[in-house]
Amino acid sequence: MTDRAVLASPNIWNWPDIYERENEAIDADGAVWAALAAQVDWCGADVIDIGCGDGFHLPQFARRARSVVGVEPHPPLVVRARRRVCDLPAVQVRAGCAQQLPIPDCSVDLAHARIAYFFGPGCEPGLAEAHRVLRPGGNFVIIDLDGSQPPYGQWLCAAAPRYRPAAVEAFFAAQGFDCRRVDTVWRFRDRRELEDVLRIEFPPKVAARAIAQTASLTIPVRYRLHIRRAPFLRGMQPYRRCGDLIPRADPGRERSLGQWTLR
Ligand SMILES: C[S@@+](CC[C@H](N)C(=O)[O-])C[C@H]1O[C@@H](n2cnc3c(N)ncnc32)[C@H](O)[C@@H]1O
Repeated sequence: MTDRAVLASPNIWNWPDIYERENEAIDADGAVWAALAAQVDWCGADVIDIGCGDGFHLPQFARRARSVVGVEPHPPLVVRARRRVCDLPAVQVRAGCAQQLPIPDCSVDLAHARIAYFFGPGCEPGLAEAHRVLRPGGNFVIIDLDGSQPPYGQWLCAAAPRYRPAAVEAFFAAQGFDCRRVDTVWRFRDRRELEDVLRIEFPPKVAARAIAQTASLTIPVRYRLHIRRAPFLRGMQPYRRCGDLIPRADPGRERSLGQWTLR
């Protein structure tokens, strides 16, 4: 793993304690988890969380999964994540990155990545790795912020002017992902917490604007769930959406869907 393979994440790298408050405030009503559970059942499954940070989401997966592996490239976060899950025997945290996952081929049923590495064009090596480690019929779910939805999306685009939400969405669609939008509420305990979080997410000018535009202790934030299911068997068409059974491809005919080429 080279440093170039790792995307700097100043928010959680530099301010892990504030990021912990952020993770607690995010999705205060559990809408992202509910949307994820509506698409994918990880009960008894083997799960990988790619770019797990300090492991905030690992215990939630562990409540239902058979095993959970968190993969994280930033060494101090690996230490924090291991500390978080030390009482959970079914959970391991491995140092590694999305482009070179430290687990065998066909070894997980669900690959999950939340606001980590998979931000559109350029993440193809990680997509290929997720494909390698997924069992046939397994699901890959990438969760990111919907930059097209105000107010948060406007702040996001102001902070990263080259970021194009529609282009990112088109990229994942072309890779065979379906997209679900999830409206959430970030809910903070007090004003100080809200302002601290906005200051670690955005450069000073954008943070000041976000703070000025937020009168209450809540911020509506829309997420996207990009979901792709690995084909069950060679010769069988992949599921386009969870629950949609699609008949076998005709033998001898090649068809393509996103990155899959089916024979
Ligand atoms: C914004 S944090 C999100 C952490 C966690 N998913 C969460 O929701 O709390 C992004 C994480 O991606 C990690 N990351 C950066 N480059 C990566 C890569 N190439 N492969 C996997 N993770 C990466 C960072 O170190 C950081 O922990």
